Amino acid sequence: MHILLTGGTGLIGRRLCRHWSLAGHRLTVLSRRPERVAALCGESVRGIAGFDELADEPLDAVVNLAGEPIAERPWTPRRKALLWDSRVRLTERLVEWLETRAQRPAVLISGSAVGWYGDAGERPLDESSAAAGEDFASELCLAWEQIAVEAEALGIRVVRLRTGLVLAPEGGFLKRMLPAFRAGLGGKLGSGRQWMPWVHIEDIVGLIDFLLHQPAASGPYNACAPQPVRNRDFTQALGQALHRPTLLGVPAFALRMLLGELAVLLLGGQRVHPKRLLEAGFVFRYNDFPAALADVLRHR
Ligand SMILES: NC(=O)c1ccc[n+]([C@@H]2O[C@H](COP(=O)([O-])OP(=O)(O)OC[C@H]3O[C@@H](n4cnc5c(N)ncnc54)[C@H](OP(=O)(O)O)[C@@H]3O)[C@@H](O)[C@H]2O)c1
Repeated sequence: MHILLTGGTGLIGRRLCRHWSLAGHRLTVLSRRPERVAALCGESVRGIAGFDELADEPLDAVVNLAGEPIAERPWTPRRKALLWDSRVRLTERLVEWLETRAQRPAVLISGSAVGWYGDAGERPLDESSAAAGEDFASELCLAWEQIAVEAEALGIRVVRLRTGLVLAPEGGFLKRMLPAFRAGLGGKLGSGRQWMPWVHIEDIVGLIDFLLHQPAASGPYNACAPQPVRNRDFTQALGQALHRPTLLGVPAFALRMLLGELAVLLLGGQRVHPKRLLEAGFVFRYNDFPAALADVLRHR
C-alpha cells in the first residue's frame, strides 16, 4: 500500500511509520520540514513539502494527523488561528487536492479528539452522543471532522479518530507532567473528578491499522481505552508508580487564572467508551490504566 501521512513526524505518526514500514508499506509524509522526515520516520519514508509533489502517483490511503499542539500555550487569538489553520485549513487543502486527482485513495483516516464532545461531566459517551460543549477545542474538532467528511462525496471511506490522551514514553502529555510529579509536586487538578480518556501508544497504532484494513469502517471512532480514569485516580496512579506524594493539587480558579480558556482541557472531561471499535472486534492490549502507565514508564 502507498500511504500518505500528514503529521507523520509527530508522536503517533512516527510510531505508525515504524509499524507500516516493517509491514512493507510505501510511506510518504507531508511535513513543514521534509528534509527531516527520513531521520524521524525511517530511512525509506519520503518527505514532501506539498501535496502536488505526489502528482498522480497512485495512493491507497491517507492518514491526516497534522496539527499544532493544542495544550502547550494559552489560547490567544493568534494561537487559536494557528491551531485552526494547522487542522481545519490543512484538511480543507487536502480534500481540495484529493478532488483534483484522477486516482483517489480508498480511505482517509482523519484526526479529531475526545474534546469533540466538550466538557460532558458524568454523562457516559459513545459515538452516537451529541457534542455537549461550546469551548474552542470542541468547535475545532467539529470543524476538523466536518471538512474530512467532505471527502466521502469523492467516493472515499472516511474514518474520524476521536483520540484520548496518548500514553507514550517518548512524548505527549505524560512527558510534560513527569518533571512535576518526579519532584513530588504533582497533584489533582481542580476537583479531580473529571474523566480522562486515555489510550496506550501501541493501541492507537493498532487501532489505526485495524481501521485501515476494515473495508466497512467509516464515521467516528472513540480512540481511547474502554476504562477512562478520573483525574484524581490518574494522579494517584502516577504518584504511586513514581513513589512520590501527590498532595499538591492545583485549584480550578488558579488554573483558570493561569491558562484562561485552555483550562477547560484540564478541568473538563469526557466519560468516553470506544463502543464502535469494540463492536468492530478491535481488542485493546491495555485496558487497565496502572498497567498501561507501568509499561510506558518502564520504557522511558
Ligand atoms: N497525542 C495525544 O495525546 C492526542 C490526543 C488527542 C488528539 N490528538 C491529535 O492527534 C494528532 C496527532 O497527535 P500527535 O500527538 O502525534 O501530534 P504531534 O506529536 O504534536 O505532531 C503533530 C504533527 O503535526 C505537524 N504540525 C504541528 N504544527 C503544525 C502547523 N502549525 N502546521 C502544520 N503542521 C503542523 C507536525 O509535523 P511537521 O513538523 O513535520 O510539519 C507534527 O509532527 C494531532 O492533531 C492531535 O491534535 C493527539
